[in-house]
Amino acid sequence: MDTFAFIIHPIDPKRDVSRKYPLLGKILSEKQINFFSTFFPPVYISEIDGITSESTGKQIKGWFIACPFTPQRMLELPERTVYQKIIQTGRMAEHLGANILGLGAFTSVVGDAGVTIANALDVPVTTGDSYTVSVAVDAVRQAARIMEIPLESATAAVVGATGAIGKVCAELLADDVAELYLIARHSDALEALRERLQVGARAKLYTSTSMDVLPKAQLILTVTSAVHDIIHPEHLRPGAVVCDVARPRDVSVMVAAARNDILVIDGGMVDVPGPVDFHFNFGFPPGKAFACMAETMALTLEGRLEDYTLGKDITRARVEEIAAIANKHGFRLSGFRSFERAVTPEQIEIVRENARRSLSAQKVAH
Ligand SMILES: NC(=O)c1ccc[n+]([C@@H]2O[C@H](COP(=O)([O-])OP(=O)(O)OC[C@H]3O[C@@H](n4cnc5c(N)ncnc54)[C@H](OP(=O)(O)O)[C@@H]3O)[C@@H](O)[C@H]2O)c1
Repeated sequence: MDTFAFIIHPIDPKRDVSRKYPLLGKILSEKQINFFSTFFPPVYISEIDGITSESTGKQIKGWFIACPFTPQRMLELPERTVYQKIIQTGRMAEHLGANILGLGAFTSVVGDAGVTIANALDVPVTTGDSYTVSVAVDAVRQAARIMEIPLESATAAVVGATGAIGKVCAELLADDVAELYLIARHSDALEALRERLQVGARAKLYTSTSMDVLPKAQLILTVTSAVHDIIHPEHLRPGAVVCDVARPRDVSVMVAAARNDILVIDGGMVDVPGPVDFHFNFGFPPGKAFACMAETMALTLEGRLEDYTLGKDITRARVEEIAAIANKHGFRLSGFRSFERAVTPEQIEIVRENARRSLSAQKVAH
């Protein structure tokens, strides 16, 4: 049987440590968890079974293993120390007999996005970022449809546009919409991206290093590697759709509390084919996985046991290829969730109604 392993790590330190060690999660503060994570060894989490291809009937098995570092720790520690810990975690995958290894969340963000890690390991490696791009852009397109925002005349924004995932998301959305804002902190990289993408793009492209342009956007895809939230209620226009792919999240929980006229969706959740059991609660409902996990599973079902998505320059061809492979085996964009709760059609109707009200109130005020 072909097998895979997937590296996870604590994102919200207290909540995620509690999922494996309830007592430690209770007694340690966030600061203490950040500190102790430096000295903690890699952790075996669980076996994953039941994944079955819809088209071939092939079954595979996998394992969750954890790198103990939090995002904060991965940014603070020297890159070499972080690589070493992820490679050490990868060695656990090799001992388990995994045929391919996926890098979850910040383990795929750090440094050169998997290249050094793949070079040091015998097991093939993928970041899962190609399928993450495909699922995130599809989620934005689907959310635009249900919110009745015509794509071809829409104004959109990609926050974290110069990142590994953001760049290709921007490239794909630039073919869909009328205007597209590219947002990050470094203006040189943004300008270089704008120049490259503008050639042949349908959309008129703009760049910004400030969130202040966000109220112009009806559709926002956000995928930064910021450790704290960066999108707040005042940044969003009524009726906007925000697809948050970042982990930790980019969108403040305050948005859910303060704005009932905005649709925030979690990017990157997919249905897994077959009666999958993760034997571990990573916060999703049963049968659902992050797109980056799904890429690792889909490659295993396809028997593509090779280095797949590595580095910061993901190609559109790779995104299209993994989307076709995943679709063939039965992975599907899952229903929308917002801050870890399912979004119902009734809620969408309420958001649309509130957005209409806010917009007409704004018109009266003007
Ligand atoms: N949902 C999933 O399935 C999934 C899968 C893989 C990864 N992810 C998540 O996706 C995110 C991005 O990953 P990546 O590999 O694309 O990272 P990356 O290559 O490091 O890119 C990060 C981007 O964010 C920008 N950025 C960083 N901090 C910022 C801030 N404070 N304000 C505005 N922009 C900021 C960076 O540009 P500047 O430095 O110029 O600001 C860059 O454009 C991470 O949160 C990761 O955990 C999710």
